[in-house]
Amino acid sequence: MSSSESPLVLIMAAGLGTRMKSDRAKVLHDVAGRPMIGWVVTAAREAGADRIVAILGHQHEQVKAALDARFGAGVVEVALQQEQKGTGHAVLCALPSIDREPDDRIVVILTGDAPLLRAERIAQLTDACAQSPAGMALLSTRPDREMPYGRLVREGGKLVRIVEYPDATPDERKIPDTNAGFYAVRLGHLRKDLGTLTANNAKGELYLTDLVARAAERGGAHAIDTPFDETSGINDRVDLATVDRAARRRINEALMRSGVTFADPDHTYVDADVGAIGRDTWLGPGVVLRGKTTIGERARIDVGCVLVDTQVADDVYMKPYSMFTESVIGPRGQIGPFSHGRPGTRLDEDVHMGNFVETKKAHLMAGAKANHLAYLGDASVGSKANVGAGTITCNYDGFAKHTTVIEAGAFIGSDTQLVAPVTVGRDAYVAAGTTVTRDVPRSALALTRVKQVNVEGWADRYREAQQKRKGPKSTGG
Ligand code: UD1
Ligand code: CA
Repeated sequence: MSSSESPLVLIMAAGLGTRMKSDRAKVLHDVAGRPMIGWVVTAAREAGADRIVAILGHQHEQVKAALDARFGAGVVEVALQQEQKGTGHAVLCALPSIDREPDDRIVVILTGDAPLLRAERIAQLTDACAQSPAGMALLSTRPDREMPYGRLVREGGKLVRIVEYPDATPDERKIPDTNAGFYAVRLGHLRKDLGTLTANNAKGELYLTDLVARAAERGGAHAIDTPFDETSGINDRVDLATVDRAARRRINEALMRSGVTFADPDHTYVDADVGAIGRDTWLGPGVVLRGKTTIGERARIDVGCVLVDTQVADDVYMKPYSMFTESVIGPRGQIGPFSHGRPGTRLDEDVHMGNFVETKKAHLMAGAKANHLAYLGDASVGSKANVGAGTITCNYDGFAKHTTVIEAGAFIGSDTQLVAPVTVGRDAYVAAGTTVTRDVPRSALALTRVKQVNVEGWADRYREAQQKRKGPKSTGG
């Protein structure tokens, strides 16, 4: 995928993005769970870029912080463009940051609001520049509808200039080939030509596109025709939704080609940073996979499950509407429906976790079962232990969290409260309805139940007394 020469990539992202009607910088809005500018940086790196400089203006602190958090501090360098005086001016503002680079360096110029551009295309653009006698290449596209894009003006087949839409004559506006807004130029040309730009045009800006006329004097820039979908940028939230859908479609198709079945690919939402999903795994409708989630082979993730930063092993069956966050689920787990794993949930192999079971910082070891209605927080549950319906770890005393340990093979009867810190020993039994406040020794039985009394005939006498007080029992509803 990489080009023959490593490009230096500039990403123009200083604009405000007014039409987003947002308090957040446009390039920080997410497309398939990853900020727009994150897509562009990722593609640039995959294309072999060895230096990436983002040209920032509006909200540059926030954008820089997001880039540092995602890629590591300083990995994406920043050049400031305090006032936005056009795309040519944006690139001028980046020149001081790269003043030690040699003139023959290929500089690729991208925009931060076009996340669908593929790494292969950046590599292709770099290679075309490397081979171009004029030392310049750009991406052209034929939009499927009338767009106010710059038009590629050719004379005798040679690209002579780009005319911006506001400056174009009615005839020029009819030219089908438009400027997609991505370029590769040798740095020496960039240094020389940027200085010659003037703002003598309809928008009163320095147009980067005027470089194309300079390249024409050297033989003409090379234009690569590119599918419109791949080049489309985001200006408002309608575009955002359109691009998000296209990005998700691309992610899902790649997964289908790698052996994952989607019951309904249009309604399964896999974020861009989700890791591997194994062969023969089946994803049901409405499944949402976020963050760095990964899934093994032959897993079945049924309708409406939501997984965030969760690792799911092979052969797990997750029944509908289960949600897990920062959790690890071992092989052959049987989960849900309606299970809720909160951060720090760790299920070893063959664990059963059933409906309305909530876990948090809980480690359930091999073959442990909690099949119905339970809360296990700050808990460790040994292998093959059985946690009955209605079991609750009372892990919080209003000030601090405490740990519950249930050792291997223990049997926790229904409706048990385990008041932490407390340990139930190996193979011990806790009788249903017990409130465990002291440790239970190995193989012991713990019960705190009040002894049952049966009062013979009590119910009949009670009804009789009530009826005498209220008169005959009414038959109405
Ligand atoms: C630009 C091209 C046009 C092309 C179109 C494709 C120019 C003069 N025109 O027009 O030929 O068809 O893209 O989308 O380049 N930016 C800055 N600083 C600035 C101005 C812009 O960083 O001073 C950034 C913007 O944030 C944006 C990108 O550059 O990401 C493009 O700028 P924009 O103003 O949207 O250019 P267009 O008018 O769309
Ligand atoms: Ca634009």
